[in-house]
Amino acid sequence: MERKYPHLCSPITLGRTTFRNRMFSAPMGGTDIANDGCIGPKSTAFYELRAKGGAGAVTVSELMVHPKTDGSHAYHLDESILNSLASATYTADAIRRHGAIPSIELSHSGMFAGTYMTDKSKQKSLSQWGPSDTVRADGVQVKALTKDMIDEIVGAYAHVAGLVKRAGFEMLMVHGGHGWLINQFLSPMFNKREDEYGGPIENRARFAIEVLKAIREVVGPFFPIEFRMSGAEFVDEGYGIEEGIEIAKLVEPYVDLIHVSAGTYQKTFGITHPSMFTDHGRNVFLAAEIKKHVSKPVATIGGLSDPEQMEEIIASGKADVVYMARQLLADPFLPRKVTENRDGDIVKCLRCFTCMAERAATSTRRCTVNPIIGREMEGDEVYPAPVKKKVLVAGGGPGGLYAAWTAARRGHQVILCEKEDTLGGILKSEQALPFKHEMYELSLTYAKFCRDAGVEIRLNTEVTKEYAERENADALIIAVGSSPLVPPIPGLDGENVVIVNNYYKEKDKVGDEVVVMGGGLAGCECAIHLGMEGKKVRLVEMRDVLAPDANVRHRPLLLKEIDKYVTVHTGHRALRVTSEGVVCADKDNNEVLVPGASVICALGQRSRTDVVNELLDAAPFVRVIGDASRVSTITNAVYWGYHAALDI
Ligand SMILES: Cc1cc2nc3c(=O)[nH]c(=O)nc-3n(C[C@H](O)[C@H](O)[C@H](O)COP(=O)(O)OP(=O)(O)OC[C@H]3O[C@@H](n4cnc5c(N)ncnc54)[C@H](O)[C@@H]3O)c2cc1C
Ligand SMILES: Cc1cc2nc3c(=O)[nH]c(=O)nc-3n(C[C@H](O)[C@H](O)[C@H](O)COP(=O)(O)O)c2cc1C
Ligand code: SF4
Repeated sequence: MERKYPHLCSPITLGRTTFRNRMFSAPMGGTDIANDGCIGPKSTAFYELRAKGGAGAVTVSELMVHPKTDGSHAYHLDESILNSLASATYTADAIRRHGAIPSIELSHSGMFAGTYMTDKSKQKSLSQWGPSDTVRADGVQVKALTKDMIDEIVGAYAHVAGLVKRAGFEMLMVHGGHGWLINQFLSPMFNKREDEYGGPIENRARFAIEVLKAIREVVGPFFPIEFRMSGAEFVDEGYGIEEGIEIAKLVEPYVDLIHVSAGTYQKTFGITHPSMFTDHGRNVFLAAEIKKHVSKPVATIGGLSDPEQMEEIIASGKADVVYMARQLLADPFLPRKVTENRDGDIVKCLRCFTCMAERAATSTRRCTVNPIIGREMEGDEVYPAPVKKKVLVAGGGPGGLYAAWTAARRGHQVILCEKEDTLGGILKSEQALPFKHEMYELSLTYAKFCRDAGVEIRLNTEVTKEYAERENADALIIAVGSSPLVPPIPGLDGENVVIVNNYYKEKDKVGDEVVVMGGGLAGCECAIHLGMEGKKVRLVEMRDVLAPDANVRHRPLLLKEIDKYVTVHTGHRALRVTSEGVVCADKDNNEVLVPGASVICALGQRSRTDVVNELLDAAPFVRVIGDASRVSTITNAVYWGYHAALDI
């Protein structure tokens, strides 16, 4: 068989371990972490899914090597803890049995101990040790590690490395990037020491090298060790690619793979985890530059999801391995699909950050486009239904599409009706915003899945009570979504007004000066887009805050873009729309004109409750999902759609 992406699919040998392909799974936090730091069964299932999906290596994240100086918020591996070794062994085993090489990341957070804790107040009670005495931006005191403590931590890395190998991991990743302890030593931003660990880069790299040497002694010459580093830090006080190259050259003798990431968790979050506002693969140049100066294999990462781009990276010699994090949540089976020439079936990551935000909010994990994530133990297989039924799905948005696809995979006879002439629901509107194009593509992918699974799609077909009763289905999934909220503000029905959902169809109506009414997620993103197009954009919002509905990871990045492109008028209530702009009442109730000949209305959505109520008794099994149930997110629409179909 001729592989479409031969470079991605070719094996690579590191140390004496051969990996089945060049598509590796990056570390992605824990799902369940026991109080004593054991890797819980949910985490094992979380990582196992990526092994089933065909990745060459699956990296389990942050094993904290020295709890004494690093709090206890992440995984530990410690013989004194009952089940610690066993749980790590089960995890390595669960990955290995699917042909992927299990790897695990060894880390120490240094002066940012407890960053991933949900209860941030508890961080303050942790000891915070870094390369140098300092006070963190949040007021927390950091103490400089003494030489004795450094030696102890180096020893801890080596000790844990031995346990990792014993547990069955066949590679380990030393985390030397993203602002954690080793990176703190490497970075002039954090390291102000005047001893042999500070000053020139040879000194700042001393701690990293001591760690790597100590690990090598324990794991032996043939066990692959990978060093994860930031190729550049992208802040004035940090290091740039020139020092990144020096760091790579200094660690090269002790490692088998140099993994080049970028930035720091604390200061450049949207670069380390490239946001939807940046290019895919925006950090690949760092790996490519470093690769010119070292002879050991180099890995790259950052917003990678397109097999063509990843193939080119390896084929052109920019890197030897591509890592993915979020893309393998969105579609853990990407490596298999690439290998089997089924790349048309890949579900692309939206870079929406729900995965990371959910962790911060609730200590759980989920993914907008993949309802299984974080709940892998609750069943990652769609089993055939014991009794085949006739299923009618009303609405072809993300919720309806996912429900229809899932029901069809279970063997049901599925009819999906969409009242408009195209599938996708609200996702159709995202085709106008280049940075959200993947959200639009998601509707195309789900629609393809439906067709491939045999769903009968009826466009221009509105499901009414009569229609549903005529179809006489056993099950009805009501996924009719929501409609835009258009309050009775004079002039809002004018020719110069475009509803945000319709912007993709009415782009030509929008001139060079625009007022966007509504500073929620939808209004903010549309305003940013119009600003990027070079228009003069003013945003009017009644509340004092923008985009409270955006998740905690996406929102700060969104607000940065707003600062670049949009003039914001918070605390302004729209009174009427005119041909010159929107007349508002400011906080003191003064009337002010916010000028702009074109107006975008982004004032929210309202569930189609009337349609729902009409359909509630139209079949024996009825389930209301997505925005039709509660105006919410794609995440909920897909998740509820999936489970509605499983429940039939
Ligand atoms: C501008 C905008 C931007 C957004 N951005 C994001 C984002 O970045 N991230 C996020 O998670 N969420 C976002 N959302 C919310 C998200 O789009 C919705 O939560 C999601 O689309 C809901 O999916 P759904 O399938 O329930 O409904 P919809 O997407 O609304 O689809 C419902 C479908 O049902 C059809 N329909 C209605 N009545 C009938 C009937 N009687 N018979 C047949 N068909 C019918 C409609 O035509 C429509 O196609 C955004 C919303 C808007 C408005
Ligand atoms: C949910 C999630 C959890 C993460 N947890 C870790 C972690 O524990 N350790 C780490 O080094 N990187 C972690 N990262 C960063 C990723 O490994 C990766 O470097 C980053 O997401 C960029 O890759 P991507 O664009 O393919 O997502 C995490 C990323 C995500 C999305
Ligand atoms: S939640 Fe969003 S960013 Fe995270 S993996 Fe899923 S689609 Fe990508």
